Amino acid sequence: MTKSRFTLPAGMLFLVAATMMVALANSKTQSKQEKRPFGKTQDGQPADLYILTNNAGFEVAITNYGGTVVSLKTPDRNGKMADVILGYDSVSGYENGKAYFGGTIGRYGNRIAHGKFILNGATYTLAKNDGENHLHGGLIGFNKRVWNAKDVSSSAGQALELSYMSKDGEEGYPGNLSAKVIFTVLADSNALKIEYSATTDKETVVNLTNHAYFNLAGQGNGNILGHQLTLHAGKFTPVDATLIPTGEVRSVRNTPLDFLKPAAIGARIAQDNEQLTFGKGYDHNWVLDRTSAEVLSVAAEAYDPQSGRVLNVSTTEPGIQFYSGNFLDGTIQGKDGKDYPHRSAFCLETQHFPDSPNHPNFPSTVLKPGQHFRSTTVYKFSTR
Ligand code: GLA
Repeated sequence: MTKSRFTLPAGMLFLVAATMMVALANSKTQSKQEKRPFGKTQDGQPADLYILTNNAGFEVAITNYGGTVVSLKTPDRNGKMADVILGYDSVSGYENGKAYFGGTIGRYGNRIAHGKFILNGATYTLAKNDGENHLHGGLIGFNKRVWNAKDVSSSAGQALELSYMSKDGEEGYPGNLSAKVIFTVLADSNALKIEYSATTDKETVVNLTNHAYFNLAGQGNGNILGHQLTLHAGKFTPVDATLIPTGEVRSVRNTPLDFLKPAAIGARIAQDNEQLTFGKGYDHNWVLDRTSAEVLSVAAEAYDPQSGRVLNVSTTEPGIQFYSGNFLDGTIQGKDGKDYPHRSAFCLETQHFPDSPNHPNFPSTVLKPGQHFRSTTVYKFSTR
């Protein structure tokens, strides 16, 4: 008697509690992955948009056209969501665009001097698509290719795997390169993790990155000159007038390139400095103060005092290109009818150093058959 009197209510209590927990969970955003059509390329290939969300409502949209991050929605300090990435409404914008918005950049991110390098005694000639130099993989880089997509979500978060086979000789590079990029919206924080990997059947060079343009106040919402930036880098690679590294690795001390302590992007951008003149602002590779290539190291932090949004970048890469959107000039029509004035976004491209194939003193970008190229970068958002 006594026993049944107590077990029955306890069982009911459990049922009520379980029902309440399910209801509570349903009232919050559910982690999910959705697929929508994103238009067709000029030659008729369909592209899709994959929308990855975590339980907190943090949302990243990626298209398999160019392995492109199209939008990223994250809250400000009052919980108000905004899309903090520049881009276009459909695939045709990306196809016609020249700014590399959000794209996966390959086979070689950044510049190669005169579009030439020597590997094993053979000279390889690449397109000169940036004055005299080769930039971001050439005329049709990885950001202008249609990738294969696969949902690889796990308990770590919603994840999308994109793969692309770059043929031997494509854009002048040697070797069939099988490239893979996994984008994960982490389940336990408002972060986008990007994992790159590649293998080749012939010795080649590889440098993969993402070219997201961020404005933490929201895309199309003013310039980024008031954003505060920290770069965990005591050195940078100075460039010539065509933005090719001279080969020197120079201290940032007493220069406007010192972001070891947080500084507003606009505070010193107009200073009379040869490097800033060459870059038309910031457009340089910083040498990260990291300890290991195996683990993620904190590379950069950007903070928008107005919205309170903070972006933390950590990476396994040795360098980061900080570009202050100097070529944006207001002529591009972006998402939701927004236009993108001068310096209305910044890029933090984790990478090996520009023109490494021509600088034996820089960390090597050579990939040999049998080796596995791997690189990871995490863009984590919070507020302050
Ligand atoms: C990179 C380059 C810049 C510029 C942009 C795209 O960040 O370093 O010089 O080409 O891409 O406009």
